[in-house]
Amino acid sequence: MLLITDATLPDGRRNQRVLIENGRFVAIGPDLPTPEGAEVIDAQGWLLSPPFVDAHFHMDATLSLGLPRLNVSGTLLEGIALWGELKPHLTQEALVERALRYCDWAVAKGLLAIRSHVDVCDPRLLAVEALLHVRERVKSYLDLQLVAFPQDGVLRSPRALDQLKRALDMGVDVVGGIPHFERTSEQGAESVKLLCELAAERGLAVDMHCDESDDPLSRHVETLAFHTQRLGLQGRVTGSHLTSMHSMDNYYVSKLIPLLREAGLHAVANPLINITLQGRHDTYPKRRGMTRVPELMAAGINVGFGHDCVMDPWYPMGSGDMLEVAQMGLHVAQMTSLDGMRACFDAVTVNNARVLGLADYGLEVGKAADCVLLQARSPIEAIRLRANRLWVMRRGQVIARSPAATAVLQLPGRPAAVDWTSSQAEAASPPA
Ligand code: FE2
Repeated sequence: MLLITDATLPDGRRNQRVLIENGRFVAIGPDLPTPEGAEVIDAQGWLLSPPFVDAHFHMDATLSLGLPRLNVSGTLLEGIALWGELKPHLTQEALVERALRYCDWAVAKGLLAIRSHVDVCDPRLLAVEALLHVRERVKSYLDLQLVAFPQDGVLRSPRALDQLKRALDMGVDVVGGIPHFERTSEQGAESVKLLCELAAERGLAVDMHCDESDDPLSRHVETLAFHTQRLGLQGRVTGSHLTSMHSMDNYYVSKLIPLLREAGLHAVANPLINITLQGRHDTYPKRRGMTRVPELMAAGINVGFGHDCVMDPWYPMGSGDMLEVAQMGLHVAQMTSLDGMRACFDAVTVNNARVLGLADYGLEVGKAADCVLLQARSPIEAIRLRANRLWVMRRGQVIARSPAATAVLQLPGRPAAVDWTSSQAEAASPPA
């Protein structure tokens, strides 16, 4: 039995005690007695959060930066071309090694569930085999969900549909797609229809790269919502990226958003990637190119933030830090109100857990004892500081630790240690 004392919870409750038995939360409250023989961990008032979840990632490409060369234009299209150059040279061993290395980074950052797309447009399905192997290797400490992703277009790329089906037969979890990369809008719409039908037939979820474009007329999300509703897939379908919504006509969006809500679509924005990939054909002003996060949230749509890429053909930065993702999302969407900032924390925790359908997730009695202790006093402070992860717990076992972040000052008349914490903003307007 394990008792965590003096924890602050994301909803603002302080001085909480959390009791864990057999890898599950069994009691949470301010006045729990210390059971005899229980191990005690003092959280010292720091923020105890459910683990971070990434709803959109590409683990087959991660950590391949510079292979075989760098992306010069910085565009999505050059990234896809570059990935195409790399694909024939991939080896199973290197794929597994890079993915496992990334999972180490993720765990150290308290990121314990990842939905990763895996490209199925390689007839060898090498990446699929590698990531299925990795899913098995990491399952005791990280939930890896895989999406069969036809990177070169399920209709545009020869044999991609057969390969996608083979990947699903091999155990890949979710049906992917990329309608804006098909040859025509009609083919894009056709791909959405056939992939949703495939998911319905097999009882699977759908997660499509959808309208990752600055073209305001890229409207495949409308078709995705339509087939979701037609096939009764509500709650099982995710539209990822949706960047064209940034550039769409406002009148059209006023019709579109209620349709997405009606279809129970999840939306995933990828702030780090789309702030760098989109708007590349603009001179000035340059569009931000992230989807309309606050408006989607206000309509009651579940919106998550994904990391998308770390050191690959599309993005040279990243370290598996979902607080960096939340911070960029907050800036790009101008979500600086208290509610907005808190919503950005949800977007990398509970909202993403809903996208992945993680039934055992959350800091609640009865759920799996997975959590992370952040060196911050609130979710907003966690984002501001990209807070240090003091420890990370999976099923009641600490699986990663980091020393407290500190700095020693040598200044006359000033304290010896820097304290970055401050709950001023939230103290001025405490949570309800
Ligand atoms: Fe992506």
